[in-house]
Amino acid sequence: MAIDYSTSEGSKYALIDADRLWHRHVEMARYGATPRGGVNRLALTQVDIDAHVVLAEWAGERGFSVFVDDTGNMFMRREGSDPEAAPVTSGSHCDTQPTGGRFDGIFGVLAALEALVSIEEAGLVTRRPLEVAVWNNEEGVRFTPSYMGSAIYAGSVALDSMLAATDSDGITMGSAVLALKAALPNAAHRPLGSPIAAFIEAHIEQGPELEVAGETIGIVTGMQGTRKFSIEIAGDEAHAGTTPRRHRRDAFVEAVAIVNALHELFHDADDTVRFTIGQFEVFPGALAVVPGRVSFSIDFRHPEQETLERLGNEVEPLCQRVVERCTVSVSEPSRAKPLRFTGLVPEIIERAVGRRGYPYRHIYSGAGHDARHMAGICPSGMIFVPCEKGISHNEAENASPEDLAAGAQIIADVMVDLANRD
Ligand code: GLV
Ligand code: MN
Ligand code: MN
Repeated sequence: MAIDYSTSEGSKYALIDADRLWHRHVEMARYGATPRGGVNRLALTQVDIDAHVVLAEWAGERGFSVFVDDTGNMFMRREGSDPEAAPVTSGSHCDTQPTGGRFDGIFGVLAALEALVSIEEAGLVTRRPLEVAVWNNEEGVRFTPSYMGSAIYAGSVALDSMLAATDSDGITMGSAVLALKAALPNAAHRPLGSPIAAFIEAHIEQGPELEVAGETIGIVTGMQGTRKFSIEIAGDEAHAGTTPRRHRRDAFVEAVAIVNALHELFHDADDTVRFTIGQFEVFPGALAVVPGRVSFSIDFRHPEQETLERLGNEVEPLCQRVVERCTVSVSEPSRAKPLRFTGLVPEIIERAVGRRGYPYRHIYSGAGHDARHMAGICPSGMIFVPCEKGISHNEAENASPEDLAAGAQIIADVMVDLANRD
């Protein structure tokens, strides 16, 4: 794949290797590969740990050191000329949704690794160290909440309660982190919250705008806020053949009424509200038993804090109003405000994109990303590259080698710029 990404500034920057980057995506997609061409690599399952091991081997081949922290974040580091300086870090996550694709998360990790490798090959000296971060459990599928690794690192949530989180088999996040550490015996310990000078994350867009406009890079301006709820409805299990309607406390029937009322509440004329019930469980889940318990999730996102407050605050009163014979409890395991990326990192990104001449636009992120939490502790920014038809969180997710390469090139250029600043 002959792509010329040279700039008039010549040797100040390194040229990334598009073929190597693509082949690493192909290799990573083997870990958790699904028959339909996607990836199922939940956080710190064996396939996810295996993927971490391969990434660490690739880093080791270039003499980069590898670190793991107490929440299962992994870092790969190329030293700078100033041993005291905090690193410039780039990365994302390598866990996926159960029916996930080959690019969500892992692209940001591989772009950052490609940046470090090409900078190493070009023999560039940077003042600050450069690091790749592989944030643990971004998707929040096996353990909730999402963005767990970056949130703990940034001090947004407490380590102990997160390590106690269990998966559906009762395995704690803490024991899963120990399994990762055991698979990486040569990785050094990284204290949580060690300073980071600046952070940049590359990601596929997960929406259609760049592809439709024929643009290569999205410079991310911000991220919408989220509120996530867990709803539990409790009734009584009863015999399906003998219990008349008047004696039932059917948790499913009442859950359906609540779900319909919620859909009405969250329906907005301009289609800006994002409201999703992605998990819905009926207990005991037996053909001949009136359901005694239902639990479901709400994922609610919006760019405006006022709407997040107004609609989100209606969830519990609505549930209590609609429920009749059952009882309902509502909890809110996570919430995050809308965020804007401003200042140093977006400015440096914009200059880098201009130098390379890629068509670009400023773009707002509907999805959440680890950069949210990094933005709380250091100057941060993000770039997007197009993905086919905007499809993501889907096994059909696809992106072109050329677009991925352009994204990695910007990461390499921006890391150099950031690492040579004061
Ligand atoms: C991240 O995957 C999100 O749910 O936005
Ligand atoms: Mn992602
Ligand atoms: Mn995702």
